[in-house]
Amino acid sequence: MIYQYVISIRHYFCIILLMLMPEIIQGGMGAGVSDWKLARSVSMKGLLGVVSGTALDLIPVRRLQNGDPGGHMRRALKSFPVTEIADQILEKYYIAGGKAFDAPYKAKPMVGLEQAIELQQLLVAGAFAEVFLAKEGHDGLVGINLMEKLQPPIIPTLYGAMLAGVDVVIVGAGIPVKIPGVIDKLVKNEAAVLPLHVQGASAGTKWVLTFAANKVMPAPLPILKRPKFFPIVSSISLANMLLKKSDGQIDGMIIEASSAGGHNAPPRGKLQLDPQGEPIYGERDEIDLEAFRDLGLPFWLAGSYGTPEQLENARIAGAAGIQVGTLFAFCEESGLREDLKTKFIEMTLSGKHQVFTDPLASPTGFPFKVLSVSGSNSEAEIYDNRGRVCDCGYLREAYELPDGSLGWRCAAEEGESFVRKGGIREDTANRKCLCNGLMANIGLEQIQGNGYRELPLVTCGSDAIDLKKIIPPGKKSYSVEDAIAYLFSLDLEKAPEMVEVD
Ligand SMILES: Cc1cc2nc3c(=O)[nH]c(=O)nc-3n(C[C@H](O)[C@H](O)[C@H](O)COP(=O)(O)O)c2cc1C
Repeated sequence: MIYQYVISIRHYFCIILLMLMPEIIQGGMGAGVSDWKLARSVSMKGLLGVVSGTALDLIPVRRLQNGDPGGHMRRALKSFPVTEIADQILEKYYIAGGKAFDAPYKAKPMVGLEQAIELQQLLVAGAFAEVFLAKEGHDGLVGINLMEKLQPPIIPTLYGAMLAGVDVVIVGAGIPVKIPGVIDKLVKNEAAVLPLHVQGASAGTKWVLTFAANKVMPAPLPILKRPKFFPIVSSISLANMLLKKSDGQIDGMIIEASSAGGHNAPPRGKLQLDPQGEPIYGERDEIDLEAFRDLGLPFWLAGSYGTPEQLENARIAGAAGIQVGTLFAFCEESGLREDLKTKFIEMTLSGKHQVFTDPLASPTGFPFKVLSVSGSNSEAEIYDNRGRVCDCGYLREAYELPDGSLGWRCAAEEGESFVRKGGIREDTANRKCLCNGLMANIGLEQIQGNGYRELPLVTCGSDAIDLKKIIPPGKKSYSVEDAIAYLFSLDLEKAPEMVEVD
């Protein structure tokens, strides 16, 4: 009886939410692929544009060191509620005209357990700027995507995004049971905590990340709007667990299949690889849509849903809509480097779309999809011999030392260094430094001390996109508008109203 009552309340919220939420969500794509420009373009077309919340301290300071082309970061920081914080950031990182091409970027402190106030302010201001720019000049909805595994920056990033009025928070790569509670605290400017996952933590020891808005932001703080919260899940058991254990409201879910770009949930059970070395997903990994419908929450389907036919299938399956990544990642407005987009388009058009689900590349331990941008042997050789300098540190894991203190290590850092920190050598095999590789994808690559310029490491979904149906005649690229027109091409009447402003 009580159960039925809970379900019917959920159905009620579900109907209200569906009236407010767009049918298509542009997936968050880190780092900086779904930047403010992409999210804004999508939101202005009446869909949900989502900025990536990854590295929103590092990306802004590198943009500033490139001379802040277009003046966007400086414009956003001018609207930041605490002028002194914005000024300090500009003074420290902005280089008029940009740094020399061969000069390395100035470092900023790495994220960790007890983060200096200055770093927390940078995270808040960076996230504020990204969401502010994505929302600038229109009334469309904007979301932010965070990865649960990247814990230390989560709370300040969320706070900055909420200060800028973010509408939806989407969290993947982990089990975000504590994020709704954090959101509720931040709304009221109360201190928020997040338990830190620590390898080898001794029994009874609790490591927590803390954030107190009134300490980080020396200004009167407004009560903030509560954004909707959508976790990303890959199975009904995970969805049920989240609903049971979550410390706050879940407003909807993104259900992501293993063909999606970026990180994927590992297969259920013992990891088995096919002859090419890719994880084998089986029957147990199939998504039970009926069970999801029974939950009574709106859900969006992701992973190879970026076609008009799949949108129709999602409708038939009772989904609120779809989340699409790859199609938007390579359009004109995305943050990816232009040469990488061009290569992707050329290779896809010539039938050479080649993607490998690498079970080891990511130090997170999750399978990670890697796009071949040339298909050549030299590319494979470079892939196997990438740099291993850990100077960004987002994917590091926390571990407890014998003396009870906390250390940080990454399986993609230099093997010797990982082993010195108590890591197991075998765990370093075939790991790639995603932090630096992903920065290179968006043209913000570091130049290391030995002159090594970091190389890109591109991810995308397994299925080739039918670009012939999307790229307009006479053009070699496509826009957000072209992508959306394609998605709604089976049913133009259902296309959202455009919220065009400029
Ligand atoms: C380049 C790229 C980067 C991505 N980065 C993230 C990320 O940082 N966090 C996340 O939750 N999902 C990420 N994704 C997944 C997308 O948000 C989306 O769910 C997925 O791409 C949908 O499947 P599709 O690629 O087949 O459209 C990424 C996808 C791509 C293509």
